[in-house]
Amino acid sequence: MAFGVAFLILLLTISLFSSSDALSLNHYAKTCPDVDSIVTNAVTSATSRDKTIPATLLRMHFHDCLIRGCDGSILLDSKGHHKAEKDAAPNLSLHAFFVVDNAKRALEAACPGVVSCADILALAARDAVVLSGGPYWSVPNGRKDGRVSRASDIASMPSPTFNISQLQKSFSLRGLSLDDLVALSGAHTIGFAHCAAFQNRIHNFNATHDIDPTLHPTFASKLQGRCPLHNTAKNAGVPMDPYSATFDNNYYKLILQRKSLFSSDQALLGFPKTKALVYKYASSKQAFWNAFANSVVKLSSINGGQEIRKNCRIVN
Ligand code: HEM
Ligand SMILES: *[C@@H]1O[C@H](CO)[C@@H](O)[C@H](O)[C@H]1NC(C)=O
Ligand SMILES: *[C@@H]1O[C@H](CO)[C@@H](O)[C@H](O)[C@H]1NC(C)=O
Ligand SMILES: *[C@@H]1O[C@H](CO)[C@@H](O)[C@H](O)[C@H]1NC(C)=O
Repeated sequence: MAFGVAFLILLLTISLFSSSDALSLNHYAKTCPDVDSIVTNAVTSATSRDKTIPATLLRMHFHDCLIRGCDGSILLDSKGHHKAEKDAAPNLSLHAFFVVDNAKRALEAACPGVVSCADILALAARDAVVLSGGPYWSVPNGRKDGRVSRASDIASMPSPTFNISQLQKSFSLRGLSLDDLVALSGAHTIGFAHCAAFQNRIHNFNATHDIDPTLHPTFASKLQGRCPLHNTAKNAGVPMDPYSATFDNNYYKLILQRKSLFSSDQALLGFPKTKALVYKYASSKQAFWNAFANSVVKLSSINGGQEIRKNCRIVN
């Protein structure tokens, strides 16, 4: 009798563990050993034709993980009246979905029904950083894909107009700390932003200032030139790091020069703790890289879905 109970408890423990969503570094070791190189090939070949691909992939992964966990919800297409995250207004300008599709197609040929779309995006984000001259990290795998994607969920993303308390709250809701916030924001050392994302800082900032006084004045007038109040070229992109397209620590140097684009970037100077980290990473690329690799694994481990999609754009 006692043995029977002990055996039942053992069985229960085993089933609890095997149904847990813990990610692991050798998740595909037996079922799809070439997963890393297959994804890397897709990202490398797309990047050789379009240099804007890596930044977009990294942002897509961030986006995916903040909404419903890293479950590939950003990859789902709208269905009839149901607008998906990717089609939320204003235009999110995410445009690397075909890279995930290409990787998925190659993976379905090599190991059908095994690799989740959420894992593909996590691997692609790592490759994007490496191809941009940034650090390498090992990506734990085993994410599941979700079955829901809603345009209205976009409202829960942090806004570029957020101050430091709002950013802290948004990150802590996802189990991410202020350390993670400062390290991950360094992703803004690559890629482009559209005028709308920093419009609030360069026109009608508040009742007494047309321009955000925390912006460097000559930099602010340059931005006004690129982004006039009545903007006819709404799709004009401004590089977030005008000095280089590589994954370096310029982002933090720009904050200290008051030349970062978003209020949410400049806001990192708003708490003593985050301010100290901005100074630290501005003076050491290696310290930034170590912190980024550490925090991005945390970000990409936020739990999500239920299934392994066959097509990343459609639920099974
Ligand atoms: C802290 C809060 C954050 C806010 C408010 C924010 C906001 C934004 C905004 C408004 C853009 C410009 C989009 C556009 O105008 O097209 C952008 C771009 C970007 N973000 Fe963030 N972001 C945040 C954190 C992150 C994190 C944590 C990552 C990745 C780890 C990230 C990666 C990127 C990248 C790579 C781009 C450039 C995209 C491209 O060139 O296509 N961001 N972000
Ligand atoms: C959204 O932006 C992308 C990339 O910038 C562009 O190709 C696409 O046409 C835009 N879509 C709409 C509906 O404006
Ligand atoms: C940030 O903004 C919120 C909402 O507008 C406000 O309540 C809060 O006091 C602000 N915090 C800081 C540090 O400025
Ligand atoms: C406008 O913003 C500046 C800088 O944050 C601040 O010093 C000033 O008091 C603000 N003015 C109003 C009317 O809120």
